[in-house]
Parts: sequence; structure tokens; C-alpha cells
Amino acid sequence: MGTYFLFSVTFLTLQVTRIATVLVLVALSLGLKGAEARKGRILESFEYTAISCRRHTASITDFGGVGDGKTSNTKAFQDAVNHLSQYASDGGAQLYVPAGQWLTGSFSLTSYFTLYLDKDAVLLASQDMKEWPVLKPLPSYGRGRDAPGGRFSSLIFGTNLTDVVVTGANGTIDGQGAFWWQNFHKGKLKYTRPYLIEFMYSDNIQISNVTLLNSPSWNVHPVYSSNILVQGITIIAPVTSPNTDGINPDSCTNVRIEDNYIVSGDDCIAVKSGWDEYGISFGMPTKQLVIRRLTCISPYSAAIALGSEMSGGIQDVRAEDITAVHTESGIRIKTARGRGGFVKDIYVKRMTLHTMKWVFWMTGNYKAHADNHYDPNALPVIQGINYRDIVADNVSMAARLEGIEGDPFTQICISNVTIGMAAKAKKVPWTCTDVEGITSVVSPQPCDLLPDQGPEKITACDFPAEPLSIDRVVLKSCTDRVNY
Ligand SMILES: *[C@@H]1O[C@H](CO)[C@@H](O)[C@H](O)[C@H]1NC(C)=O
Ligand SMILES: *[C@@H]1O[C@H](CO)[C@@H](O)[C@H](O)[C@H]1NC(C)=O
Ligand SMILES: *[C@@H]1O[C@H](CO)[C@@H](O)[C@H](O)[C@H]1NC(C)=O
Ligand SMILES: *[C@@H]1O[C@H](CO)[C@@H](O)[C@H](O)[C@H]1NC(C)=O
Ligand SMILES: *[C@@H]1O[C@H](CO)[C@@H](O)[C@H](O)[C@H]1NC(C)=O
Repeated sequence: MGTYFLFSVTFLTLQVTRIATVLVLVALSLGLKGAEARKGRILESFEYTAISCRRHTASITDFGGVGDGKTSNTKAFQDAVNHLSQYASDGGAQLYVPAGQWLTGSFSLTSYFTLYLDKDAVLLASQDMKEWPVLKPLPSYGRGRDAPGGRFSSLIFGTNLTDVVVTGANGTIDGQGAFWWQNFHKGKLKYTRPYLIEFMYSDNIQISNVTLLNSPSWNVHPVYSSNILVQGITIIAPVTSPNTDGINPDSCTNVRIEDNYIVSGDDCIAVKSGWDEYGISFGMPTKQLVIRRLTCISPYSAAIALGSEMSGGIQDVRAEDITAVHTESGIRIKTARGRGGFVKDIYVKRMTLHTMKWVFWMTGNYKAHADNHYDPNALPVIQGINYRDIVADNVSMAARLEGIEGDPFTQICISNVTIGMAAKAKKVPWTCTDVEGITSVVSPQPCDLLPDQGPEKITACDFPAEPLSIDRVVLKSCTDRVNY
């Protein structure tokens, strides 16, 4: 029926029940050094939900991993992945990371592979730059975001992969970002800072049930990829840390981001698709994106941003049940002359917002450009932006909507919105330029460019009836057993 039944099907409510069976094995006390260290062997079985289960399992300790927080495990991780890649065509493999502090630089994953973090496992990002390979700039960006040249590979990286899961019992990936933030502020970085998790040119990706702390820069970056689930992750970084965006789907199709909790120094979710002339010529949009049950705290940024790099286009985004507290804006569209591309068919409903500068913000003159070669006549099309069922309180300004002169943002629809203004709110709650659209049952009273259609239109601006295909994906329950 033309829909993608991507992943196989059993749906079971997951309980990460950990049935730990300790088999008291007689220690192999043969007087050998290695045997002495292992007084017993624990056989543990655990359950998790995933797009795919795996036939083979190994632990990072099988590859010489040492979880003491000091020994570098970069080679152990890369050896483990390389070894386990042989099972790609034999049911796939899982790498188990037990409790411990696992210092590591960047490493790359393989296809038909699961990285599983125990609840007390912490991956600690190395601060030795030699542990971070440098990649070429992304073709849709033309340059690194921090510096003109290349970019450090992400801590957990994958390219040209299919069927990869990064999950666990809420284990932790700690980017130890302070080191990178300081170097960034001092202008000492030759290359763009690494992200925590990045997949490029990949299909069938799941990132779930892990906690990401203190990323050097963005946290989760799927790019040029499709069929992606990001579920149940916690992202925490200081609210003043530079560019610590939460989840950035970038030139991706069929993405579902749900049940995430994000506190960060930049946009909690930033939807992107390349920058100016590079993004236009690469021409790969982000489309068919679902965002639901997000909780966001980001005092200097947006709960959900569209752009500013949107030159490949952004289309068919559906966001619902969004809670933001002490966040600069709810939804923000950022674009500029020279971006080209489009932001079309955006639907947002049921947002609950507390303490904001702007509930709605659209910026048509977001100036940051990749270089001076952009075409000022490449105008973005911003059209079909729908917001409904929103309650906000303690807000400084309801909306600041600034289109582009000669290129208005059109078909804006805002209905059933109640915004409680802060005691020290701005006198004029709405400012609108170069925008067109309608409103219904919105208070305080919107600007004249968005005329009120009366209460009979309260259910205008609704989602399309047909769900997106990514919503048909169900996860199955896997039971695994590890020895370590
Ligand atoms: C994540 O963990 C929660 C609670 O333990 C569980 O309900 C959920 O199914 C898990 N999700 C995934 C994708 O593993
Ligand atoms: C990955 O796929 C892209 C797009 O298909 C291709 O251009 C690139 O060469 C591939 N890279 C590798 C390492 O295979
Ligand atoms: C995961 O761990 C984080 C950090 O400790 C915590 O805030 C969060 O509530 C945990 N999530 C779950 C589902 O247990
Ligand atoms: C208006 O929004 C509120 C709060 O989100 C919701 O409870 C209510 O059902 C909405 N009304 C209509 C007519 O959809
Ligand atoms: C309202 O917002 C201001 C900041 O704009 C904050 O200082 C204050 O605590 C907030 N009040 C409430 C009741 O949340």
C-alpha cells in the first residue's frame, strides 16, 4: 500500500526487567594472573525494545576494555565493532557495555548492530584530540560550523549503515564538554567540535533510553538518513553552554522523536537541511518528522527551531504534546535571504509553556551565512504554518513574526491559543511584518495581518488526518544474555 513497513512487528510493552542470575562458578584458580582477576562469571539476561534483536552478543571487556575512567578504550571499542561486523549477515551483533567509566575517543559503528549501555555504564569522551579523527565538512554546509575546515568525528559515529540501535537501561554518554566549550570560546579550535552521536547516509536507526551529558556541541545529529527513532533519551547540558542543541534531524526523511527530556544551551530540537548555496545544491529536505512528548528547558533558545539552515527544505513536520519551561521561544522559524529552500506544512498542537520571551517567533533575517557566495535572490518559501491548542503563561511577548520584504510568510494559521502575559510584559504583545494568515480564539488579540476568523474556526489549523508512515513502526522486545 505504498507505506513503509520498515521494521518487523511484534509490539510488546517493554519493561527493562533485569533478571540477574548470578552463577557462582568456581574460580579457575590456576594461579594465572588473568584468571585471578575473575572470581566469578555473571550470566545476566535483560530485555529491551528495538527495531531488531541480535543473535550475537559480546561485552566490551572481551576486547580489553577497562572501565576505570582513565584507560583509553577507543581501540577496544573499534576492535569490538570491527570484530562484531562479521555477524552482519548472521543475525547481527550487540556490544554490551557494563557498569564502569569507559573513557573513549570517537569510534564508528557497523550495520545490524546494537550498542547497549548498562544503567551504570558511562562512556566518557576523551579530551585528547588525537582520539578524534577529522572529517570533511558536510557537503550541504560547505564548511564546519565552528571553523572553515573539517570537523571532528562524533563520539559515536556511523556512516552508510543500516539497522543500528544505540540503547540501554538509561546508561550515560558524558561528552565532558567544558574542555571543548572553553577552547571554542578562546577561538582555539582548528576544527568544528564533535557531536555525541551522528549517523550519516544511514537507514533504520534507533537511539533510545540513554542519557547524554555535556556534549561538546550538538547532541544527536542524524544527517542524510531515513527511518529514525529517537526515544526516551535525557539530554542535559548547562543552559549557558555553546551550541549544545538537543536533537537535530538534518536532511532526513521519516523521523520520530518522542518522550525526550532536554535541558540545554541551545535549541532542544533543531530541524535542519543545509546552509545557503551548499544546502540548495545538495537539495535534500527534512520531511515526515514527528515530534511528541518533548519536555524542554532552554532559556536562550527554542523548544523547536526550524532552521536556520533549511536550504534543502523542511516539509511535513508534526509536533504535539510539547512542554517547555523557562525557554526563550516555543516554536521558532529562522531563515534569511540567500537560504532558498522552504519550510512548509508545519503542524503543532498541544503545547504547554511556562515562562517565555516569545511563544511564536519567525525570523526572516537570520544573518549567519556560510560565506559571501550566497545568492541574495535565493528566497525561502515559508508557507502553511499551523499552531493550535496552546496554553502559555508568564510570557513577555506573544509573537514576533518577521517575514521577508517581498517574500511574505504565508498561510499561517493559529487557533485556540491562550497566552498569559508576564507582569513585566512588553506593551505590544504581537508584532508582525511580511506575514499572512488567520487566527481564531487567540488571546491576547493578534496583529491585524492575522485577522480573527471568529470562534467557529477554533479547530482550524489541524493536523492532516492521515498519519505519517514512521508512526506505523513498532518495536519488538528482545531478550539478551551477556557474560562478563
Ligand atoms: C525505554 O525504557 C522505558 C522504561 O524503562 C520503556 O518503557 C521503553 O519501552 C524503553 N524504550 C525503548 C525504545 O527501549
Ligand atoms: C556513503 O554514501 C554516500 C551517498 O550514497 C556516498 O556518496 C559515499 O561515498 C558513501 N561513503 C562510503 C564511505 O561508502
Ligand atoms: C535517566 O537518567 C537521568 C539522569 O540520571 C534521569 O534524569 C532520568 O530520569 C532517567 N530516566 C529514566 C527513564 O529513568
Ligand atoms: C483548546 O485547547 C485546549 C488546551 O490545549 C484544549 O483542552 C481544548 O480541547 C481545545 N479546544 C478545542 C475546541 O479544540
Ligand atoms: C516569570 O518570568 C520571570 C522571567 O521573565 C521569572 O523571573 C519569574 O520567576 C517567572 N514567574 C513565575 C511565576 O514563574
